[in-house]
Amino acid sequence: MRKRIVRAFAPATIANLGPGFDVLGLAIDRPGDFVTAARQLDPSLTFSVRGKERTVPSDARKNVASFVAQLMLDEFKPPFGIQLVLDKRMPIGSGLGSSAASSVAAAAAVNALLPKPLKRHELLRFAIEGERLASGAMHADNVAPSLLGGACLVRSYDPLEVVRIPVRNTIFWVVVHPHMEVRTEEARNILPTSVPLEKAIHHWGNVAGLTIGLSTGDAALVGRCVADEIVEPVRSSLIPGFHDVKKAALAAGATGCSISGSGPSLFAVAPSRSAAKKIGAAMKRQFATSSRVACDVYLSRVNMEGTRVGWRQ
Ligand code: HSE
Repeated sequence: MRKRIVRAFAPATIANLGPGFDVLGLAIDRPGDFVTAARQLDPSLTFSVRGKERTVPSDARKNVASFVAQLMLDEFKPPFGIQLVLDKRMPIGSGLGSSAASSVAAAAAVNALLPKPLKRHELLRFAIEGERLASGAMHADNVAPSLLGGACLVRSYDPLEVVRIPVRNTIFWVVVHPHMEVRTEEARNILPTSVPLEKAIHHWGNVAGLTIGLSTGDAALVGRCVADEIVEPVRSSLIPGFHDVKKAALAAGATGCSISGSGPSLFAVAPSRSAAKKIGAAMKRQFATSSRVACDVYLSRVNMEGTRVGWRQ
């Protein structure tokens, strides 16, 4: 058997983008997770974690990366086993799609080793199972952009249909991750189960406007559409300093600001790189002042590439 080793990277994502709860997401350049997969003679899956290994389960049945890899091995039954190493770089419970990045990187790495690899979009159904394991709910707004790159619309869950939104990549995305943890499952459990028609009307308008703004690179339109009257008012209570930090982002020139995924990270929309730097610094300062929390700041355009795979041997 030829020994082949592959290393896959899957990037962080901003899910929801304000009004698009569970249906909109886009990939950013960093952070992200890495998974290395190697063929082994033993037909089973061997799994280990390094990096932020203490933050995620090392039990192969409980970790999303090994869970996804096992699903693929069970289905395709290749004539070899796989040694899988998750290099966990992303913080968990961050709102940056940490479990999605692990799931996607695992799916991409295992796929590359298969005798007949699937097309990239065909990996979505495996990666999404990792999300289900992590948060108890099936949502594709992190896995789809992490896998496919770009900005994605989950047009339907049943049947699953993901549409890539054409992007004119001029907008800068500021992501600020305060060092605290919000569990997605908990952040989902507190959400309302019904929505007044009046609020839904605003959301329909904003989701449509956001997709148009992404396609035309209109930072002002995108920023105006990053308005969430349904989820943000509830989840913001989980993020100390949220309102002050959002205010600081807007005062520093952001055209819009909301919660990234299920939080606690916030994202802001910037019309230029210099504006993005200023906005990121203002948000970080405000988090320190309002809630005495340190932050990481990431500036990125939309990452159009998504997951990437490289051969080691
Ligand atoms: N759409 C999901 C949620 C994303 O908001 O719960 C989780 O990162």
